[in-house]
Amino acid sequence: MGSKVLVTSALPYANGPIHFGHVVGAYLPADVYVRTRRMMGHQVLYICGTDEHGVTIVQNAEKAGMNPQAFVDKWHEEIKKTFDGFGIEFDIFSGTSAGRNPFHAPLSREFFLKLHGNGYITDRTVKQLYCGSCKRFLADRYVEGTCPRCGAPGARGDECPSCGAWVDPLELKEPRCKQCGAAPVVKETRHWFLDLPRLAEEKIKEWFHSKAGEWKPNVLTFVENMLSDLKDRPITRDLDWGVPVPLEEAEGKVLYVWFDAPIGYISATMQLFQARGEPEAWKNWWKDPECELIHFIGKDNIPFHVVVFPSMLYGVKDGYILPANVPANEFYNLEGKKFSTSMGWYIPLDLFFREFPTDAARYALIQSAPETKDSDFTWKGFQTRVNNDLADNLGNLAARVLRFVERYQEGKIPGPQAPPSEREKELLALRGKKVEEFTRAVLEYKFRRAATVLMELSREGNRIFDDGKPWVTRKTDPNKTATTLWTCCETLRTLAFLCAPLMPATGRKIWEMLGLEGSPEKEGFSKAGEEVFRGGGGTVRPSILFQKIPDETVQAQQKALVQRLQEARGLEPFAPPVTFEEFTRLDMRVGEVLSARKHPKADKLLVLDVDLGLERRTIVTGIAEHYDPKELAGRKVIVLANLPYRKFRGIESQGMVLASTTTDGGVQLLGVDPGAPPGARVS
Ligand code: 2FM
Ligand code: ZN
Repeated sequence: MGSKVLVTSALPYANGPIHFGHVVGAYLPADVYVRTRRMMGHQVLYICGTDEHGVTIVQNAEKAGMNPQAFVDKWHEEIKKTFDGFGIEFDIFSGTSAGRNPFHAPLSREFFLKLHGNGYITDRTVKQLYCGSCKRFLADRYVEGTCPRCGAPGARGDECPSCGAWVDPLELKEPRCKQCGAAPVVKETRHWFLDLPRLAEEKIKEWFHSKAGEWKPNVLTFVENMLSDLKDRPITRDLDWGVPVPLEEAEGKVLYVWFDAPIGYISATMQLFQARGEPEAWKNWWKDPECELIHFIGKDNIPFHVVVFPSMLYGVKDGYILPANVPANEFYNLEGKKFSTSMGWYIPLDLFFREFPTDAARYALIQSAPETKDSDFTWKGFQTRVNNDLADNLGNLAARVLRFVERYQEGKIPGPQAPPSEREKELLALRGKKVEEFTRAVLEYKFRRAATVLMELSREGNRIFDDGKPWVTRKTDPNKTATTLWTCCETLRTLAFLCAPLMPATGRKIWEMLGLEGSPEKEGFSKAGEEVFRGGGGTVRPSILFQKIPDETVQAQQKALVQRLQEARGLEPFAPPVTFEEFTRLDMRVGEVLSARKHPKADKLLVLDVDLGLERRTIVTGIAEHYDPKELAGRKVIVLANLPYRKFRGIESQGMVLASTTTDGGVQLLGVDPGAPPGARVS
C-alpha cells in the first residue's frame, strides 16, 4: 500500500432523491475510508458528483415539465444536501452536464476520439425500434412490452423488472412507445461500439487476474463470469441530451451515459484543480503510477467499473492508472423490501435528520452495511445500535468517567498515582492494538468490523471502571482511584481517534470533553495509542453523547413508513381488530345477478335482481359509473345478506354487494369461481 490514494464514489443520477441504500453502499464507506487514510497521514483525494445524462433523466425531466439542465440542477442540490446531512465530505462534488462542469464534454470527446484513433471503436448499422409519432428511436427505457423470456408485461428495452433478464428491445413482444403508446417500427441506425473483447485480450483480463487475491469475492465472481462472455458494447445513442459524438457522420447522436459518466471522475478532478489554480495538477493523481485509484460502488455498477471504464482508461493509451480496487457492496433494503421512493417505501431523510443525529445514522448504517450479502435497515435495529452501543456503551463510559472526574477530582484528569493493576495495564496496551485493528479493518473494506473494534475498546473501558470501583476506592485508596480514572481517560482519548472517521462529530466532542486542544483528525492516528495524561490533564467538560431512542419513537417511525406506503398506493389503513365471533355474525353469500338496470332516480346507482339460493333479493348498489348493467347479468357476486333493509331514492335494498374500493375512486366487484352455487356461505 502506498501513501497516495484517489477515491471515487459512484456518481448518483441527478434524477431523484437518494436513500440509505445508496449512502451505505457507495458513499459512507468511502467517507470513512478517506477520513481513516487521512488520519494515517496519507495524501487523499475524494471525488464525486452527479451523473446527469441518459434517457431516464430526459424522460423524467419531460414528466416534470422541466428542461433537462434545470431538472438535474434541482436534483444535484437535493442530493448534495443529503450528503451534507450524513457528514460526507468530498473534495469536489461536481457533475457531468455542461452547465456544471466545462471540462466534462471536451474530455469525453477526447476519450472517444483517442479510443477511435487507437482502433478500439468500430461502427455498424443496427436495427432499432423507432416511434413514428414521436419521431425518435426508442432507446432502452423508451420502449415497453412483454418479456421474451418470462412473459411478464412491463419489460423495458433494456431489462425485465420481473425476471431481471437483459432484454434486446427487438425481441420484446408487443412493443409500445412508452411516451405515446404507439407501436414502433424497426428502422436502421448507425452506432459506435467499444471493442471490449479486444481490450480484454490485450490488457484487462491480465490486469484483472492480477487482483484475484486482493479484491472482494463478490466482485471477482461477477467479473469472471462477465469476462468469459464479453461482447462489444454500443456507446452511442440517438438522443439530444448528452455529449455529442465528435464525428461528422454521427450528427444527432450522443455518447451513451455509461460511457461519459465515469469520465466524470476525471473531469471533476480537473475542475477541482482549476479552481485551486493548478490546472495541470489533476494528472498527479490520474497519471501517477504510485497513486491508488479506488472506486466505491454498489454491485449493479460492477461491470462498468471493473471492465468498461478500465478498458477506456487503458485504451486511450495516455498514461492513466487503472483501479487498485473496486470494493462493491451488495444491496441494502428497508425492513425487508427494496427501497422505492415512487412506491412509498422510503424514509424522507430531511425528516430523519430533524430527529436523529448524523453520527447515529452513520454508525447504525455502517454496522448493518451489505458488505458480503444484502442487508436491511430496520427501525428496531437502528434503536438497538443507538441505545446499546452508542448510549449504553460509548456514551456511558464518557459520562460516568468524566462526571466522576468533575465531582471528585475538581474537574481535572488525574495522572496515575498508584501502579496500574494488571487489567489496567492490559487496557492501556490494548488501545494501540485496537487502533491497528481498526485501520486494518478499514483498509480491508471491513467497515462493520472497524465499528465493532471501537465498541470493543469502549466495553473494556467500562469494565475497568466497574472493576476499579472508584466510588469505593475514593474513600479507601484515592491513589488507586486516580489511576483507574487516568486509564479510562486515556482510553476515551483513543476512542476519540477511532470515532473520528466513523462519527466525526462524536470524535471531536469526546476530545473537547477531555479538555483537549485541536482535534483527533488533526493529530492523526500515529499518537492515538500514546499516554498523554501521565502528568494529569485539563479540565473536563462532561456531556451526553447520545440520547436513547424510546420504543414509542420506533413505533411512530414504523407507522409512518406504512402510512407513506398507503399514500403512495392509495390504500386505506387497516381497521381495528374484530373477534372471530364478530366476523361470523356477518352472513355473506354467493349471489347470481339475474338482471341489472339503472336506478330511475339516481345516476350513480344500479338496481340488481340477485338469486341468493334461498331467496331472490333486490339490491341497490353505487356502481353505475363503473359497470354497464348489461355486463352484469349472469355474474356471480358476494352479498352481505343480513344487513337491515334500507331504501335508496324509493327502492328498498335487501343486502349489499361487496366490492373493493380504492381512495382514487376505483371500484371492482368481488367475484367467486363460476362453479359456486347461489346461496353458498362465504367465510
Ligand atoms: O448507478 C448509478 O447510479 C450510476 N449513475 C453510477 C455511475 S458511476 C460512474 F460511472 F459515474
Ligand atoms: Zn411515441
